[in-house]
Amino acid sequence: MGSSVEQNILVTGGAGFIGTHTVVQLLKEGFKVSIIDNLDNSVIEAVDRVRELVGPDLSKKLEFNLGDLRNKGDIEKVFSKQRFDAVIHFAGLKAVGESVGNPRRYFDNNLVGTINLYETMAKYNCKMMVFSSSATVYGQPEKIPCVEDFELKAMNPYGRTKLFLEEIARDIHVAEPEWRIVLLRYFNPVGAHESGRIGEDPKGIPNNLMPYIQQVAVGRLPELNVYGHDYPTDDGSAVRDYIHVMDLADGHIAALRKLFADPEIGCTAYNLGTGRGTSVLEMVAAFEKASGKKIPIKLCPRRSGDATAVYASTERAEKELGWKAKYGVDEMCRDQWNWANNNPWGYQKKL
Ligand code: NAD
Ligand code: WQD
Repeated sequence: MGSSVEQNILVTGGAGFIGTHTVVQLLKEGFKVSIIDNLDNSVIEAVDRVRELVGPDLSKKLEFNLGDLRNKGDIEKVFSKQRFDAVIHFAGLKAVGESVGNPRRYFDNNLVGTINLYETMAKYNCKMMVFSSSATVYGQPEKIPCVEDFELKAMNPYGRTKLFLEEIARDIHVAEPEWRIVLLRYFNPVGAHESGRIGEDPKGIPNNLMPYIQQVAVGRLPELNVYGHDYPTDDGSAVRDYIHVMDLADGHIAALRKLFADPEIGCTAYNLGTGRGTSVLEMVAAFEKASGKKIPIKLCPRRSGDATAVYASTERAEKELGWKAKYGVDEMCRDQWNWANNNPWGYQKKL
């Protein structure tokens, strides 16, 4: 189902985890794509593998620009070459712990970068944006499932950048109603492309659960620390809404189509999750089943700032975007393992 008129999309942060998977789907759906990325948390090899996955013909419709959103000149260079119908804005720093220790880096990168992007978009009259928000804007929710109109709260500087950027988007739309902005609140993105050629490749010791489990499975780390075993949940470990990155990628296509089709969209937030909660221990068991590997665990105290249980209400995305997650935890673990097993050291060629 390609688009009839070839639409041209700028993807910021397109070399990263969610970006690469989304770019593959965009190209397959008939969009033209330009990436801007400073490779701060990614490698050019990931973009080469996207090209390999889509083949030589679709590859011609993909352009990579090395650039930093903190430099307006870098964004300007890309916009001055061609017209964009919309921007998907992934570029940002995302490590919660690092943001606590170095908030200025997060405010500079995520806020200044995004403001530069909006200014350049306005200058070139490109006023459609899909923005990567996060379930982090729900803080520690008092009720679950999380519904889009819940009160929002940030728990750390990273979360504050997402909260501020949501508010900035709403203010821009109030001041200039012709802007159409979709805020996608991702829950916990995991898994990888089914080919095993692209996937998440964090630098250093992973902060998030699935990349950590993956590194234990391939022998890079000795055991998984399970943070919290006394939560008021069925097995005592915390519950999250894990979502397959390919479902997330398709959610971006649905959001783009909505932007193009609906002049009344304004600035609207959508949860992208499965609507189902899975505990840390259930995730470990599912990964062991998918990989055939034993994951040694150590039960540890709770991690500070963590919520007991977070999962999405998916009603709005289903109704308004016509999007629903297809994959469950078994497919997430299968594809995560396929990526890990074929690329135990990520995109690096050797140790
Ligand atoms: P990622 O780090 O893999 O990708 C982000 C990309 O942006 C990287 O390639 C990085 O080099 C690039 N980048 C960062 N700052 C830049 C700048 N100033 N200029 C140009 N490029 C820059 O992260 P991801 O997991 O793909 O996340 C994408 C987006 O989704 C982020 O905004 C993140 O906050 C958000 N998000 C991620 C998760 C998650 O768990 N992965 C959950 C919710 C929201
Ligand atoms: C999941 C569960 C941990 C690691 C984070 C960000 C959020 C969003 C998604 C960007 C928790 C437990 C983890 C480990 C463990 N990112 N865990 N051992 O915290 O739900 O969300 O990523 O927007 O903003 O906060 O995800 O994968 O870190 O943790 O037991 O080594 O796994 O305590 O219960 P989280 P996570």
